[in-house]
Amino acid sequence: MFERPASGEKVILVHVNLAQSGMSDDLEEFISLVTSAHVTPVNVLTANRRAPDAKYYIGTGKVEEVLEAITLYNADCIIFNNALSPSQQRNLEKKLCVAVLDRTQLILDIFALRARTHEGKLQVELAQLHHMSTRLVRGWTHLERQKGGIGMRGPGETQLETDRRLIRDRIKYVQKRLEKVRKQRMQGRQHRQRKPVPVVSLVGYTNAGKSTLFNLLTAADVYVADQLFATLDPTLRRIEIDGLGEIVLADTVGFIQHLPHDLIEAFRATLEETRDADLLLHVIDVSNEHYQETVEAVDDVLREIGADKVPQVKVFNKIDSVPNLEPHMSEDAVWLSAAKDQGLDLLKDMLKQKLASQYIEKELTLGAAQGSVYAKLHQLKAILSEEDTEEGGWQLKIRMSEIEWQKLGL
Ligand code: GTP
Repeated sequence: MFERPASGEKVILVHVNLAQSGMSDDLEEFISLVTSAHVTPVNVLTANRRAPDAKYYIGTGKVEEVLEAITLYNADCIIFNNALSPSQQRNLEKKLCVAVLDRTQLILDIFALRARTHEGKLQVELAQLHHMSTRLVRGWTHLERQKGGIGMRGPGETQLETDRRLIRDRIKYVQKRLEKVRKQRMQGRQHRQRKPVPVVSLVGYTNAGKSTLFNLLTAADVYVADQLFATLDPTLRRIEIDGLGEIVLADTVGFIQHLPHDLIEAFRATLEETRDADLLLHVIDVSNEHYQETVEAVDDVLREIGADKVPQVKVFNKIDSVPNLEPHMSEDAVWLSAAKDQGLDLLKDMLKQKLASQYIEKELTLGAAQGSVYAKLHQLKAILSEEDTEEGGWQLKIRMSEIEWQKLGL
């Protein structure tokens, strides 16, 4: 279902500034998003409105302008940097006779390109199907000439030939598959949770440098691209930090501003990994002049998924691109460059500081009569190494959370 035809579409972008709109570099981000979907726009039209027009989102004068641009550039697709209602989208398509996509569909298209795990792919497909089913009210005959292109990829291709029943069946099928995959992942997570290994999750605005930092810390070959959303699924690795021991590092999906709510819902399961982490490394592109706004956007999403209570360290990345910034650290932040491998030792020190207080590692000798303690430690998977003693007891090296250790009352 996710066959992706080579893109060569002529796309026109429409960016509407609403009076109450937030970030100043919205348009810049929109263009990066579109580029991430492997599309090069032929023209960008902007408009200012106090509120969306009920019928077309934009005013009729602007609709005419878009029509002229379509003729001029021979365009076959329009992408709005806004969420269109199903009726606005339909009205626009009828009027313009080309495919019209909104921001949610654009993001879903990028997610479809980026999904790497089976679960991620299923989540994207489900979100696409849901989005599509709300828009499948009347015929799409005016688009039947359309070939598959951006937004028509993935399940989009079938919408011309299928009816709602087929979509419903497909939704059911994908939901079932997802449930199964999730169950498997939950089992994996429970397995991890029983192990006394701290989980550190990298979070951050898209393109902040999470994958680069992840690679540096794990020396693993995770896909890095100068494109938004290079990471869709959390990638987990166990790594050894000198003086701290083993930790699990998770690379997560890149956050963006105005992440549509139904998308947060769609990816909730993946994002939940973040909520269960022991520590969040919030990676920030300090060379982005609007970085403060990206920090807020990420914190908003964290709040929404209930991860705002997890201890957080801010990692100000890309200091190499900012004059006069050297690697340094404060109580809850580290300034470094992941790409230039500068300041990594400071980050490791920070991890030690923040995590060592939560976990203990020690040598322990148990006598023969302490079999129940030994069994409990096994149950907690706290034993790193063990040897039998001559007295019939055990010489152990253990690692466990401070809390569990207190509970043992030894
Ligand atoms: P998403 O998957 O979209 O969330 O991105 P990400 O946060 O994982 O970012 P990624 O690691 O893919 O890096 C994005 C871009 O920033 C890449 O082109 C990196 O080479 C670049 N980059 C990462 N770290 C640094 C750095 O320290 N300095 C500079 N100058 N560029 C960096």
